[in-house]
Amino acid sequence: MCGIVGYIGKRDAYPIILNGLKRLEYRGYDSAGIALYDGSEIQLCKTKGKVADLEAKVSKEMPTKGNLGIGHTRWATHGIPNDVNSHPHFSNSGNLVIIHNGIIENYTSIKKELINRGYIFYSDTDTEVLVNLIEDVKKNENVKLGKAVQIALNQVVGAYAIAVYDKNKPDEIVVAKLGSPLAIGIGDDEFFIASDASPFIEFTNNAIYLEDEEMAIIRLGREINIRKIKDDSLVAPYIQELQLNLEQIEKGGYDHFMLKEIYEQPSVIQDTFRGRLLADKGIIRLGGLEDYIEKFVNADRIIIVACGTSWHAGLVAEYIFEDWARIPVEVEYASEFRYRNPVITEKDVVIAISQSGETADTLAAVKLAKEKGAFVYGICNVVGSTISRATHSGTYTHAGPEIGVASTKAFTTQITVLTMIALKLAKVKGTISQSDYMLHLRELDLIPSKVSTALDKNDSIIEIAKIFKDATNFLYLGRGYNFPVALEGALKLKEISYIHAEGYPAAEMKHGPIALIDEQMPIVVIAVNSNHYDKVVSNIQEIKSRKGKIIAVVTEGDTIVRELADYIMEVPYTPETLSPLVTTIPLQLLSYHIALMLKRNVDQPRNLAKAVTVE
Ligand code: G6P
Repeated sequence: MCGIVGYIGKRDAYPIILNGLKRLEYRGYDSAGIALYDGSEIQLCKTKGKVADLEAKVSKEMPTKGNLGIGHTRWATHGIPNDVNSHPHFSNSGNLVIIHNGIIENYTSIKKELINRGYIFYSDTDTEVLVNLIEDVKKNENVKLGKAVQIALNQVVGAYAIAVYDKNKPDEIVVAKLGSPLAIGIGDDEFFIASDASPFIEFTNNAIYLEDEEMAIIRLGREINIRKIKDDSLVAPYIQELQLNLEQIEKGGYDHFMLKEIYEQPSVIQDTFRGRLLADKGIIRLGGLEDYIEKFVNADRIIIVACGTSWHAGLVAEYIFEDWARIPVEVEYASEFRYRNPVITEKDVVIAISQSGETADTLAAVKLAKEKGAFVYGICNVVGSTISRATHSGTYTHAGPEIGVASTKAFTTQITVLTMIALKLAKVKGTISQSDYMLHLRELDLIPSKVSTALDKNDSIIEIAKIFKDATNFLYLGRGYNFPVALEGALKLKEISYIHAEGYPAAEMKHGPIALIDEQMPIVVIAVNSNHYDKVVSNIQEIKSRKGKIIAVVTEGDTIVRELADYIMEVPYTPETLSPLVTTIPLQLLSYHIALMLKRNVDQPRNLAKAVTVE
C-alpha cells in the first residue's frame, strides 16, 4: 500500500507534499517522511506515526525551503514501522533518494549481492535495496538516472510505484510503475506526482496515469518522457482531464470521512442511477453493458471476484442474479481464486468488484480470468483505476472518493450497479415478469429517500451504541439477501472498533455460534420483511431462550420482532431483493458510534489500509 507524493516546479514543495500526504493517508499511516532539495542538499525527515507526527517533527528539525521534494506515508510490508524503516530512503552516497509503494520480492538476493560489493544497509526495507541497486547501476554502467532506474527495474521482481531524484540533477524526478498506481499532475512548468490525483487537484486538472511497466522522466522545461521499462520504447503521453473536485475530498463539516460518506449515500446512489435508470419508462441503460449483453445472456455462469466489503457486495449479487436473471453465480475471494487453478472457460463471465480498482489480488484474478478466455467486467469506483482499465468493459459506481478506510458508500453503490445489471439481464432474458420488473425499477428509484429515512434514526442508534460499546463479542445474523449484510455489519464493527464480531447465516447459528450466547452477548439480527421472516423470528426465539441480547433491524411498523427484541433499529419497507441497500445503514451507524465512543481512529483504523496493493 503506502501513498507517495512528489513535486517539482516553482512553488514551495513542502506544503504541497505535506497536504498531499494528509490526503493519501488512507493508503497507509504507520510512518511518514519527506525529502526536500533545498538548493544544495537534500533535507530529510521521517518518523514512525502519522503525517501529523511528521509535521511536528519537521517544524522542530528541518528547514522547509525548496521547490523539489518527495514524501511518503507508509503501510509496512518489510520491516516494522519505525523511524529508520520509514521512507524516503537514501542511497549509500547520499545522492539519490527514493519513495516506493509496493514490494520488491527478490530484494534478499539483490541485497546480498550489494553487500558483497560493499553497500551498507541501515533499514530492513526492500526499498533501500532498490535505491542502492539504482545507484550501483548508475555508477557501474556510467548512465544517467533514468537509464539506471530502467536497468535496475528490469532486475527486480515485484510491484512498485516509485519516485527518485538525484541531488546532483535537481531539475528532474524519475518515476515508474508496476502494480501500484501513479498519477502525474501537469501544471504550467510544474509537475506533481502522487498515488492518486487528490494531492494536486487544486493545482491542475490535467493528469497522466502511468500504465504498468512504464516509467517517466519528469524534467522542468521539457515534455514528459514516458518509456516502456522493458524495451525502452517511447510512449505518447495521454493527458486526462480530472473529474475530481476539492470539496469531494474534504470532510465538509463532518467529524470523520466515514460519517460523511455514510450520509452521502442517498446522493451517491442517485448519482449511480443518473442517466442509467429511467424508472417511469422502464429503462435501464448501462453504457459498458449494452455492447456485451449477449456475453452475459449466453454465459454458463457468472463468477464474481473481489475482496473485503466488495466481496460482500458480490454475495448480495449472487442472490439477485440467480433470482432474477437465472444465471448461476459463484462468488470468490480474489486471493483464493487466483491461486486455485480455477476451471474457467470462454463461456464464463467474470465480474471484478473493487472500490479502489487497485486491489492486488482482484487485479491478479482479472488477469488470470482474461488469460483463460473469460469475458471480464469491472465494477469500480475510482475512474481510470488499474482494474477498470484491465477489464474488457465495466460500470463505474460514481460514489465519489471514499476516504474512510471502512467502506460504506462504495458498498451500497456497488449493490446498486449490480442490481441494475441483474434487472437488465432478467428483462433481456425474459426471466422476470413485466410487472415485477417495473415494480423493482420504481422501488430502486425510491432507495435514496429510504436510505435518508434510515439515516434519520441515527439518535436511537447512538443510544444502542452506548449500551453495547463495552461488549467484547458481537454476533450478526441474517438470512437470504441479508446474510451478506450480516457479514458486512460484523466486518464494519471489527474494522473500526476492534471488537470481535462474526457474521453468520441465521440458521447456521445452531451449528456453532449458539454456544457463545450468554446474557452478555449482543446479537444483531436483520429481521426485516422477507420470505424468511418467520424463520428469523424462530431464530430470535432461540437466542432469547438463551438470554442473548437482541438488537434487531426491523421494517417500520413491525410488531412481532419489536416484542421479542431488546432493542430495535427501524428501516423503511422495501422489497426483500433491495433490502440490503437499507438494512446496511443502521449497521454502519452502529459501528461508527461504538468506535467513536471507544475513541478509536474511525477513519484510519490500526493495521488497515484503504487500497491493498500488495497480496
Ligand atoms: C481493504 C479495505 C476494504 C475494502 C477491501 C477491498 O481491505 O480496507 O474497505 O473492502 O480492501 O478493496 P477494493 O478497493 O478492492 O474494494
